[in-house]
Amino acid sequence: MDEAKWPPRLLFKIEGLQIMMQITDNSGKRYAPKLRQSTMPTLKKTRLFFPAGTLAAGVLMLVVLLSSVTGIVHAQRAVRERILIDQGWRFMRYANQDSLGQDSEPDTLYYDSRPGLTASDRNDHKVADTRADITGQASRSGGIKAWILPTANKFIKDTSSWHYAPVGSPSPGAHFPFVQAGFDDDHWQTVDLPHDWAIDQDFYKGENVPVGGGMGRLPIQGVAWYRKKLAIGSADKGKQIFLDIDGAMSYACVWLNGHLVGGWPYGYSSFRLNLTPFVRPGGVNQLAIRLDNPTNSSRWYPGAGIYRDVWLVKVQPVHIDQYGTYVTTPAVTENQATVDLEVSVNNQLGKSADIKVTSAVYALDAEGHITGHAVAVFTDVSLKVAKDKVGTVRGSLVLNHPRRWQPISSAKDITHYQTNRYGILTRLYDATGKLLDAYQTDFGVRKIQYDANKGLMVNGQKVRIQGVNQHHDLGALGAAFNRSAAIRQLDILRDMGCNAIRFSHNPPDPQLLDLTDAMGFLVIDEINDCWQKGKTPLDFHLIFDDWYEADLRSFVRRDRNHPSIIQWSFGNEVGEQYTDRQGAELAKKLHDIVHQEDPTRPASASMNYAKPLMPFGRVMDVLNLNYQGEGIRDAPAYAGLQGIHTAPLYDSFHHQFPDKMIISSESASTLSTRGTYIFPVTKYNSAPASDTEGGDARHLWVSDYGLYTAAFGASPDKVFAAQDQHPFVAGEFVWSGFDYLGEPTPYYAARSSYSGMIDLAGFKKDRYYLYQARWRPDYPMAHILPSWTLPGRVGLVTPVHVYSSGDEAELFINGKSQGKRYKAPYTYRFRWDSTVYEPGTIKVVAYKNGKPWASETLHTAGRPAGIRLSAVQDTIQVAGKTLCFIKAEVVDENGVLVPNANNSITFSIAPDSDAASLARIWATDNGDPADLVSFAATTRNAFSGKALCIVGAAADSGKHMKTGPNTPVHTLFIKAGAPGLSSARLKIFLVP
Ligand code: GAL
Repeated sequence: MDEAKWPPRLLFKIEGLQIMMQITDNSGKRYAPKLRQSTMPTLKKTRLFFPAGTLAAGVLMLVVLLSSVTGIVHAQRAVRERILIDQGWRFMRYANQDSLGQDSEPDTLYYDSRPGLTASDRNDHKVADTRADITGQASRSGGIKAWILPTANKFIKDTSSWHYAPVGSPSPGAHFPFVQAGFDDDHWQTVDLPHDWAIDQDFYKGENVPVGGGMGRLPIQGVAWYRKKLAIGSADKGKQIFLDIDGAMSYACVWLNGHLVGGWPYGYSSFRLNLTPFVRPGGVNQLAIRLDNPTNSSRWYPGAGIYRDVWLVKVQPVHIDQYGTYVTTPAVTENQATVDLEVSVNNQLGKSADIKVTSAVYALDAEGHITGHAVAVFTDVSLKVAKDKVGTVRGSLVLNHPRRWQPISSAKDITHYQTNRYGILTRLYDATGKLLDAYQTDFGVRKIQYDANKGLMVNGQKVRIQGVNQHHDLGALGAAFNRSAAIRQLDILRDMGCNAIRFSHNPPDPQLLDLTDAMGFLVIDEINDCWQKGKTPLDFHLIFDDWYEADLRSFVRRDRNHPSIIQWSFGNEVGEQYTDRQGAELAKKLHDIVHQEDPTRPASASMNYAKPLMPFGRVMDVLNLNYQGEGIRDAPAYAGLQGIHTAPLYDSFHHQFPDKMIISSESASTLSTRGTYIFPVTKYNSAPASDTEGGDARHLWVSDYGLYTAAFGASPDKVFAAQDQHPFVAGEFVWSGFDYLGEPTPYYAARSSYSGMIDLAGFKKDRYYLYQARWRPDYPMAHILPSWTLPGRVGLVTPVHVYSSGDEAELFINGKSQGKRYKAPYTYRFRWDSTVYEPGTIKVVAYKNGKPWASETLHTAGRPAGIRLSAVQDTIQVAGKTLCFIKAEVVDENGVLVPNANNSITFSIAPDSDAASLARIWATDNGDPADLVSFAATTRNAFSGKALCIVGAAADSGKHMKTGPNTPVHTLFIKAGAPGLSSARLKIFLVP
């Protein structure tokens, strides 16, 4: 109950005959002057549902209040507890794993042996659209796989395929020291989850390193252990106790009190283990988790460690099953919605049980809290659940005047936009009327249609998909999930006009889906990047046959109540596209599994190779095309390249499948490095980046003109034109929204990608504004590139491009007009290709329908003189683990950003801050993909004039802060200094 010991806020609600207690941060309005409404952080809720018994509700309230005063929440009477157990873990990664061969393991508790690697396997420079055809198998002998596989059973439909652990001998590891309660782990590191063990380490530099550019150059590899003692009191006797792990990278194997409980190899899946048979209520309960993260197992940075939340769930023997509710809205109009609910009840009572199920619908407020009275009530249902079985009941009701869930739309007030959500409270009672379980399911009422000619329709209205692909890492924070960092990303995307995200290529942290529900992003939820045919030697293909069904079913069951999800993707660019009928058969099998779990949404896998006449596409409900719509390597500048060459295929797919909606699930793969301009600029509107055009092989940068792409990619302009010429296309998911760790095409000596519109530090590249101009046509904006501080270019031809939502623009250099430009059909930027650079002022005035619309002015900067610090959010909420993202800009004496400055900035927390010891610098970055200075360093070179410093609470700071009604607001001063520059200070706040 770690977190419950220092609840920042306790919110008690008496609901009918129950008291519901929520521990929340209560949004922090009082302390956080700059918290924006739409992004108000909310601590994950720990909800305890109390039964109404013979005691009056008021007495119960008193018990709880007294308990909280002493700092201990007595949970004896709770029917369901879901307790976050992120704090105070012990961690150990075996030393010297750089030199470990792939087959050698530091202990014998490995999941399964793996194929050995050859020198050529280690090449991670492959072009992303290389055919996936690696088929190495893990050996069938050795390892503890046979004991882990039964964890999958719950998600394997055919019980004859269930796995049973070998019986007779003690389970593996029973005598291994790390799984014993008595093992002294004092010398292990203390860590809080979410934890990514690699992210604050040093980067590997050069060639032939254990982890190359493809996986991000950080030490993700190897075997590590996490240990924690669980609080399971004698009052928990008789309860069912589960461990819910939202994500652990990877090959998790879990022991409790020396018994191997189970595990899950795929690091992106959330999973539950039943601890009940092994717990000792009232005794010591030692949890031990072994992770094993292989190199050469991913095309990007996977992260390493228990990188998402872990929960202890305590319920009664009769309880709502894991992912045990399923809500759909099969009929929705403005006036009425049908809401169908399925509830699965698990009976571990040891005998059959007669159960009554009640459910009621409530409106949720912007922060996801239930408000007011029930707006509709399901008819109570009774059922008998046999011993050790799961029984399912169904209910349906009509909701009048539903507040329909709506995606964010650029026509509305983007910043304050909130969707409409509902929650269903479901309760189970036994035959005597005793409350057994209470469970909240959030959902949204919306109708989605996938129209082959019109595109996506939400509640009867066309919504053009303006989406991005997002990887799971959070830049300098790595894979360790942080809600406020995710909110920051979503805010930046939303301001660009983005309304959709494809979580490529793996299930996101569950909290991210709560955020997309709340903020109104449409989502493609995707499970994986390969099936039986691998893309890297040790990736998911090794475990595909054993785990695909469990991974897929658990993924859909986990996520299917989220209104933001519009589509399931069961694969990306898989090698099976190439194997004709065989590949299509496997695709069909996966497709059908998805539909068994959720028939209400289309299921598809993205295609970069399968053509209209190949059998693969026939399986798909929606056609997810990667790059094929606008054509692959088909433009003049790409003519000489090796690889897939495909003419634009929107028409032929549409012709072959006139009833299937088409989406570009990946488009562009335009590459650039923020604020870097390389001359001359290509004359084409799309060209492959190379060392001789667009690329700078010495610094590992790519020009930010937004014209240079991956070998198979296309500039945004080319993609836009292809879509506008094919209005039946529902829209696009650009590769990619943010830069991410790993896959640094075209320069694998770097650490992070070049494809984002936003760099790894969260700073906008020029390209961001090209999308904003298209995606927010009603938002007046104009953006000039390049920067106007280009010392070496005086007198040289320096093309100027402008992105604007206007339709006409005039450019002025030092007051002199360079002429007007108009947006011709199928062009998306204003280009002045023969302007000559001279220092001073450059200004653009954009017009729309003949009227002035927007303008921008850039001034040539003088010498670096100082630093400017700023933060969108200036408050750290300790309990909510919110972070402050502080931007440092190098400015000249007039406060003009020096766009080519690279001064070395040292960040610190001023010791005179009253709360200096309560906070720490979590990471720094600058968005330069080639910067191999550790993210943990507090000195960071500015890159293109900017650097980022991420500040958060220090470990345990919550316990040292005063709480209560008169809690002081702690202040912190963040300092930034650089030799020769005047330093800067920024005041931020710290609240419980
Ligand atoms: C695609 C692939 C993505 C990413 C991208 C890079 O082919 O699906 O995962 O690799 O290329 O540009």
